[in-house]
Amino acid sequence: MNDKESTQKNLSEAQEQGRYIRRIRSFVKREGRLTKGQASALERSWPTMGLKHEDGLLDLGKVFGREADTIVEIGFGMGHSLVEMAAAAPEKNFIGIEVHRPGVGACLMEAEEQGVTNLRVFEHDAVEVLQDCIADEALAGVQVFFPDPWHKKRHHKRRLIQPEFVEQLRRKLRIGGVLHLATDWENYAEHMLEVMQNASKWQNLSATNDYIPRPEERPLTKFEKRGARLGHGVWDLKFSRVE
Ligand SMILES: C[S@@+](CC[C@H](N)C(=O)[O-])C[C@H]1O[C@@H](n2cnc3c(N)ncnc32)[C@H](O)[C@@H]1O
Repeated sequence: MNDKESTQKNLSEAQEQGRYIRRIRSFVKREGRLTKGQASALERSWPTMGLKHEDGLLDLGKVFGREADTIVEIGFGMGHSLVEMAAAAPEKNFIGIEVHRPGVGACLMEAEEQGVTNLRVFEHDAVEVLQDCIADEALAGVQVFFPDPWHKKRHHKRRLIQPEFVEQLRRKLRIGGVLHLATDWENYAEHMLEVMQNASKWQNLSATNDYIPRPEERPLTKFEKRGARLGHGVWDLKFSRVE
């Protein structure tokens, strides 16, 4: 059995045992319609930029054709900040993970427009992609910007940032690699800080031991500009893997 066949066998066995089916997910799959532009960008660019969960563990050197720092963005939405960051840092590799197909299409459209070549995308659950496709210590950075806040208390368990998930992220980062989180929902910011402060083997990069000022490399979105005018806050957190 080759590597690909053995990954597929492990995945189907896990699914049969209900390992994935029972897990609480951080998203609800919405079957939004693709615009024509998104559909044709998917058709054109998926062969060069798309990555599939079922292909198993990635060889990053082969995927990007070079050895370079690799940054993963989880839940990139329509991909605006991801494409902008990839365009601004051509010396780095970027991998985006998003479950919403129109978002993946929009991201590829924008990547085409900007001529970005250092970007690959998964249309799949990030928890499973990290588990099955990314080797331990492979990443220089992970970013999660404005994850779904799941406002209601009874839904808080669906929030992506949880102790088990950040431990999974820590193992995927190399020593010194950085996790960057941002949210505009104060209660989620407090939850993120609490989860990270209770997690071991991380160092908070905040001078005040809580949040950091918005880092320049995180693009300012229209939504965030509008929020700032209305006096809404945004909280950024950065932690590095120390062990
Ligand atoms: C509130 S949106 C924010 C999108 C984008 N980061 C932004 O700042 O505009 C959160 C996104 O995370 C995606 N998402 C949630 N859980 C995910 C998961 N487990 N794997 C991949 N994407 C996920 C959702 O589909 C959604 O597009």
